Amino acid sequence: MQKRLESAIYERIAGGQEGTAMKRLGILTGGGDAPGLNAVIRAVVKTATLRHEYEVLGIKDGFDGLLNEDGVEKLTAASVRGILPQGGTILGTANRGNPFAREVEVDGEIVIKDVSDQVVKRINELELECLIVVGGDGTLNISRELSEKGCPVVGVPKTIDNDIGGTDVTFGFDTAVSTATEAIDKLHTTAESHHRVMVLELMGRDAGFIALHAGVSGGADVILIPEIPFRYEAICAKILARRDSGRHFSIIAAAEGAKAVGGEKIYREEKSEAFAGRLGGIGAQVAEHVMISCNIESRVTVLGHLQRGGSPTTFDRWLSTRYGGAAVRAARAKRYGVMVALRGTDIVEVPLEEALAVPKRVDTEGDAIVTARAMGISFGD
Ligand code: F6P
Repeated sequence: MQKRLESAIYERIAGGQEGTAMKRLGILTGGGDAPGLNAVIRAVVKTATLRHEYEVLGIKDGFDGLLNEDGVEKLTAASVRGILPQGGTILGTANRGNPFAREVEVDGEIVIKDVSDQVVKRINELELECLIVVGGDGTLNISRELSEKGCPVVGVPKTIDNDIGGTDVTFGFDTAVSTATEAIDKLHTTAESHHRVMVLELMGRDAGFIALHAGVSGGADVILIPEIPFRYEAICAKILARRDSGRHFSIIAAAEGAKAVGGEKIYREEKSEAFAGRLGGIGAQVAEHVMISCNIESRVTVLGHLQRGGSPTTFDRWLSTRYGGAAVRAARAKRYGVMVALRGTDIVEVPLEEALAVPKRVDTEGDAIVTARAMGISFGD
């Protein structure tokens, strides 16, 4: 019954409806998931349908939903009920779904193809007045390219990495930092009991925000971030100085993108035209070096996707809700090609091109680093 109902809705959507005054917004979530995605979806749907005269279509699994037959579903206030505190995304997401460089099978072989025209066609078929795209730099760059092709899009900045230039903060980051800080707290007790060095490898891609914020908040002794290449001797010097002063354990927070001076980032899966690559392995390497060079027992914990899961913090629910409401306002006013952003305490709109021009990285001269250094935290440099 439910299936029949869904396909009836789908047919009506796909065919358009003559004489209807109803305007239509689309929303999709792309790239890696982050806590707060559902809160954005809820805010968009509630604002657009309760307050305004819109119908909202959810696009499933990122841009893939615009290329698949059954990739669209109607969202109502009822369908977003109860999702505010839930992690993940009710729409699904994909991080290999770039329509400008999509992996497709041709004669049994995988080739890279630009299928963006199909996406544009589908947006027109669905009669979307605007497509709200919730994503990180990859997804928002696709949106920028679609916008350049004339598609009406509004972006919402999502990523636990917090690496999008146009905004002070992306949603998802605060929850990830809370999870990482809690992990450091837990590692402290076992590190102290066993007189060990505990290395915690954290996500963040090419930015060190998660490791820096969680490292400082959790009281790590060494923080390794991509923005400050490290030397193993400096890490060992810090650990041995602690041991000599009677502190027989240490905590190292290592961003997955951290690298030694003159070294390379470590990838589990290499980059390709259609894929941004998958970092991982630096934690184990640092633990190994510490064990050998400092002669202190070391262990590594890779926190991994726990950082992307769970219920969003209050701050992320607050930010996601404000972003969702602001995205609908931009769409209603036909201000396309922009990304909603947080600047100070205000939500603003920034042209996608400007927002994505320079990715955000940790300011190595900024007050957070200065304060951390003054408190004796080593960055391994
Ligand atoms: O961009 C978010 C992120 O979680 C990064 O911190 C991490 O490097 C990457 O995604 C992991 O991606 P995947 O889920 O494909 O392993």
